[in-house]
Amino acid sequence: DAQSTPHVYVPGHGDGVTLLLLHGTGADEHDLLDLGAALAPGAALLSPRGAVEENGANRWFRRMGMGRFDVPDVIRRAGDLADFTGLAAREYGLDPAKIVAVGFSNGANIAAALLLLRPDLLRGAALFAPAAPLQGREPDRVDLAGASVFVGAGRADTITPYDQAALLSDQLTERGADVAFHQHPGGHELPGPVLRAATAWSAQMR
Ligand code: MLT
Repeated sequence: DAQSTPHVYVPGHGDGVTLLLLHGTGADEHDLLDLGAALAPGAALLSPRGAVEENGANRWFRRMGMGRFDVPDVIRRAGDLADFTGLAAREYGLDPAKIVAVGFSNGANIAAALLLLRPDLLRGAALFAPAAPLQGREPDRVDLAGASVFVGAGRADTITPYDQAALLSDQLTERGADVAFHQHPGGHELPGPVLRAATAWSAQMR
């Protein structure tokens, strides 16, 4: 069951939206709770810990080096995360049609993988500093009509380069997702103006 995965669950009060919070490399299930509360006040928060360890740092999938993803592991771990999310939705009585992922960096990458590999799981996603998780592979022609996605990308990001976020946005748009793409001049971070734009996006998508 979902309890075998370390996670934090905060019940919501309001419109039944659940944010699936997906932390970046080296963080844990507590890292994005404040971000989630700011993005969607009143939403339930479901925040698991990445199951992969890299030199003591929690992650969502393995990589060979910086920016070189183990794509079969991305696919496997996205399946595991989708299974956890489904189990948790049942155990906590969450509306499975109102789950929105929020991820930063490595967490944004696994959220993007969920969208592309499990297109029915999420209502949408806020992806901060994401890359295209399947790298050179062309994702399947899934149908993402009805999914709303916010992308925040820094033009000076050296960890997940801007072109990767742009490629991901194109892949999502081509599959029917409604993508709000916000670029900023900074690097691998989530600057205030992007957070404010994402908060406005979240309010109107609900
Ligand atoms: C990744 O490995 O997913 C990205 O390169 C960013 C990160 O280090 O989290």
